[in-house]
Amino acid sequence: MNEKGLLAGRVAIVTGGGGEIGSAIARRFAREGACVVVGDLEPAKAARIADAICAEGGQAAPHALDVCDPQSCADIVAFAVKRFGKLTTLANVAATVTPLGDVEKLALEHWNRALQVNLTGMFLMCKSVASAMRETGGGAIVSIASSHGHIGMPGRPAYCATKAAVLHLSKCVAIDYAPYKIRSNTISPGAIDTERAALQRYASREEANRAKGPAYLVGRTGSVDEIAAGATFLASDESSFMTGTDMLIDGGYLAFKGTTTNPV
Ligand SMILES: NC(=O)c1ccc[n+]([C@@H]2O[C@H](COP(=O)([O-])OP(=O)(O)OC[C@H]3O[C@@H](n4cnc5c(N)ncnc54)[C@H](O)[C@@H]3O)[C@@H](O)[C@H]2O)c1
Repeated sequence: MNEKGLLAGRVAIVTGGGGEIGSAIARRFAREGACVVVGDLEPAKAARIADAICAEGGQAAPHALDVCDPQSCADIVAFAVKRFGKLTTLANVAATVTPLGDVEKLALEHWNRALQVNLTGMFLMCKSVASAMRETGGGAIVSIASSHGHIGMPGRPAYCATKAAVLHLSKCVAIDYAPYKIRSNTISPGAIDTERAALQRYASREEANRAKGPAYLVGRTGSVDEIAAGATFLASDESSFMTGTDMLIDGGYLAFKGTTTNPV
């Protein structure tokens, strides 16, 4: 337990904590001294990450979570408060992607699912943590959007639209909860070296990184640890003058290109 870390004394919920970016955030939060509840639709993944954190000397507990279900969101908050005494921090990471296709090809069912997980899930989690954070005297919410919430890309109307909405919902939460010292910010990652991002369009992670790298000023895709570093900063007092804003962690993608010729 790191009592001098950036997040010492904090209690965090990480949604999608069993996934690649979510687990990197959960592990980094724990290394910085937070007690972490790892929430995921797939409980076995959440358990594996919580076990890994505990094996590294951190404090963590897994909890099954479906961010589309109001009761499940309320349950994980109650669990965090009961287990660790309070709640200070929420990382909204859970998301889904649809099969590729323009609006004609995209099934309504897939459109609705993307809205439910990526946007309504964030809404329900913010709704569920608000009173616990107010009782704690404040808190920090970090929601993972995407560079494709800023610009579109071919074949992903639902993903891009929901990520744009995440940016705006986060601002609205920041406005409404500023009086309670609850800050709300987003991170917009560019292409991160993960299986999910790679295998949508490429045969392997290596091939994806080779193809996408040149679209980035830094010449490569990002790592999950680079997103976890940003999330830690936004969750900590290091960012105490930041709320209602977005942190682009995109290797210069939008500054350099801002087009979709090399899609993520
Ligand atoms: N990987 C990238 O290149 C990239 C780029 C930009 C943004 N992002 C964003 O980063 C976040 C994490 O992406 P990732 O690449 O780690 O994906 P991932 O698929 O590895 O992780 C997503 C996790 O969310 C969980 N999940 C899905 N639906 C859920 C639900 N209803 N309730 C609770 N948990 C649920 C999944 O089980 C999974 O563990 C997402 O918000 C994604 O949109 C990723």
